Amino acid sequence: MVKHKKMQNGFKYIEVTNKNAHAKIALQGAHLFHYEQKGCKPLLWLSETSFFETGKSIRGGIPVCWPWFGMHKSNTKLPQHGFARDFLWELLEVNEADDSSTELLFGLKSSPESMKLWPHRFELQLHITVSDTLRVSLTTKNRDKTAFEITSALHTYFAVSSIDNVNIKGLDGKRYFDALSGEYKTQKGGIRISEEIDRVYQGVDAPLTIDDIDRKIEIRPEGSSSAVVWNPWIDKCARMSAMKDDAYANAMEDARTIQPGEEHTLTAVIS
Ligand code: BG6
Repeated sequence: MVKHKKMQNGFKYIEVTNKNAHAKIALQGAHLFHYEQKGCKPLLWLSETSFFETGKSIRGGIPVCWPWFGMHKSNTKLPQHGFARDFLWELLEVNEADDSSTELLFGLKSSPESMKLWPHRFELQLHITVSDTLRVSLTTKNRDKTAFEITSALHTYFAVSSIDNVNIKGLDGKRYFDALSGEYKTQKGGIRISEEIDRVYQGVDAPLTIDDIDRKIEIRPEGSSSAVVWNPWIDKCARMSAMKDDAYANAMEDARTIQPGEEHTLTAVIS
């Protein structure tokens, strides 16, 4: 079942319920901010103090970072992680072929407003499949006369029992850029987090897992060879907007050049 809903302030979102799962997706940013498999606790973290307001990013869930990830290369005044997460998307299609899986297609096209921030004509589609696994797929179509380059990320915030219980596996031996020290390093073993961490791993070619005491979350990326592991930890968390001071708890970055009329798809399958 798919319902069009509004929060008290008029902020619009879509609620999806089927035999296997329950999910909520805001039209702003096509931002999935809740996903729960039947009988399980939520898989995605959402800040208790997140904004649900026009033009303000939701803190948690799966922000779509596009057409650039992180700071803009040459203009630091442009919004961090691009503009797709703050623009209003359209729900284009809903497919409820059976009662255990729901497919939704959201779309965003270039507009005079987007051209001011990024001068390229594009069409963006986000396919979300809500079932016992969650599949999120972002397709960029170049509708311009010249090629453009993008970096993008499905900047997923995962809910975990406690950060102390978590071991991230699948990145052993991978080179990464440590954004905190500005150095390139190589991962040895799993990742345990006990301080601020902000890393971009490269050459990622296999599923990643987040091992928690009570469950294992698997992330299967497609169309990307990089993964971001980030946790703001105590100090940064206190400085961040829409995040409680004690809320410290993946993403993918790859520059891709898309020729006119061509497209590129970035997918994350989470279970
Ligand atoms: C991470 C960045 O990818 O995203 C961090 O490396 C940043 O530096 C974080 O703080 C959250 O970004 P934002 O724009 O949602 O606050």
